[in-house]
Amino acid sequence: MTFENSRSFAKTLDQDDPLGSYREKFHYPKNENKENVIYFSGNSLGIQPKSVRKYVEKELYVWEREGLLGQHSRWHNFHERLIENTARLVGARPSEVVVMNALTVNIHLLMVSFYQPNKTRNKIIIEQGTFPSDQYAIESQIKFHGFDPQDTLIELRPREGETTLRTKDILAAVRKFNEELATVILGSVNYYTGQAFDMQPITKAGHEAGAYVGFDLAHGAGNLKMKLHDWNVDFAAWCSYKYLCAGPGAPAGIFIHKTHHDWAGPRLTGWWGHNKNTRFEMGPDFDPIQTAEGWQISNAPVIGMAPLLAAMEIFDEAGMAAIRLKSEKLTGFLEYLIAVNLPAVTIITPANPVERGCQLSLVAPGGENTFEKISKKGVVCDWRKPDVIRVAPHPLFNRYTEVYDFVNLLEQSLSE
Ligand SMILES: Cc1ncc(COP(=O)(O)O)c(C=O)c1O
Repeated sequence: MTFENSRSFAKTLDQDDPLGSYREKFHYPKNENKENVIYFSGNSLGIQPKSVRKYVEKELYVWEREGLLGQHSRWHNFHERLIENTARLVGARPSEVVVMNALTVNIHLLMVSFYQPNKTRNKIIIEQGTFPSDQYAIESQIKFHGFDPQDTLIELRPREGETTLRTKDILAAVRKFNEELATVILGSVNYYTGQAFDMQPITKAGHEAGAYVGFDLAHGAGNLKMKLHDWNVDFAAWCSYKYLCAGPGAPAGIFIHKTHHDWAGPRLTGWWGHNKNTRFEMGPDFDPIQTAEGWQISNAPVIGMAPLLAAMEIFDEAGMAAIRLKSEKLTGFLEYLIAVNLPAVTIITPANPVERGCQLSLVAPGGENTFEKISKKGVVCDWRKPDVIRVAPHPLFNRYTEVYDFVNLLEQSLSE
């Protein structure tokens, strides 16, 4: 794609954008003067689909009118309404996904099953600089099993002078630790650098070493096109409040590959994972559902799940293929404009579109000061210590003209 360095060119891209009308499906945030901000924080908290209110009100209405009868008529299987569209979102079979709990809770639950260390095989590979919650969860799991993270946790770091990991170095580390390796857990996209990992070869190498391989898709779900089933990923977990726009603290998703559905290993259990045909017989013996639903513990948080239903309807209608196509172009335009207009700004996110999603991580002169200046000019993005401004144009609600205006505002901020 060849771009031009002008607002009129950005306008043409907006006019020709097949997903342009999706913006109208969202409440787009405004500043105190009721002017649109430039909202580039879909990687942190997505904005509200207009249909959310109707979806939530529907459940409130049923609760108001029917009380417990609502449980019998619609809530006992409410989460099942998210199975087909969630499976399409991450490239899974319907039996491989379920929406439950929150992300870090699910990472713990999945690790109970997919981290089974013993004396010889106990190491976990992660990326150095993984999201802190993942780091805390993984270290606490290691300690829970009586091991020391100092000996057990392998944190992969980029080569000297580089900011992101090379796939061949990840594969080499997996092969090096081989039969000592219990589990590999990487982000699908690193929250700080915006680097997307090549999940298929990493999974293959992990399996050759005899390890389980899982991914935290917090920055991948609704951002990357994935084929978790075909790639033979063992497990994955993600939140729904970022790219998926399901609202603060929205219920999260998990993926468990079909090959594990007759699971006889360790797992923490609750009644919502029990065989649906006999759940209400209230027997003492756990009979797991033979799908990812077998990992559920509690009944679904219906009122919190309603916004996700609304959001998933939008994602499913647009489809990840079209979303990703626009995303590459939108983020590519941002990269182009920065390269042409802002030579002092470094992009640490990989330049290759297959190694990134929407987000670009920028290192700009003035650091946090510059971030504060652009924030005052109406840009919503974020600052992550030690030195990155993260910007993530979202293909469903951002425009090419906003990308153009953002670069202009950043240029102004740098010259003040
Ligand atoms: C990569 C990653 N992992 C974990 C979390 C924590 O998520 P939660 O608070 O939903 O458990 C986040 C939150 O932003 C994240 O970005």
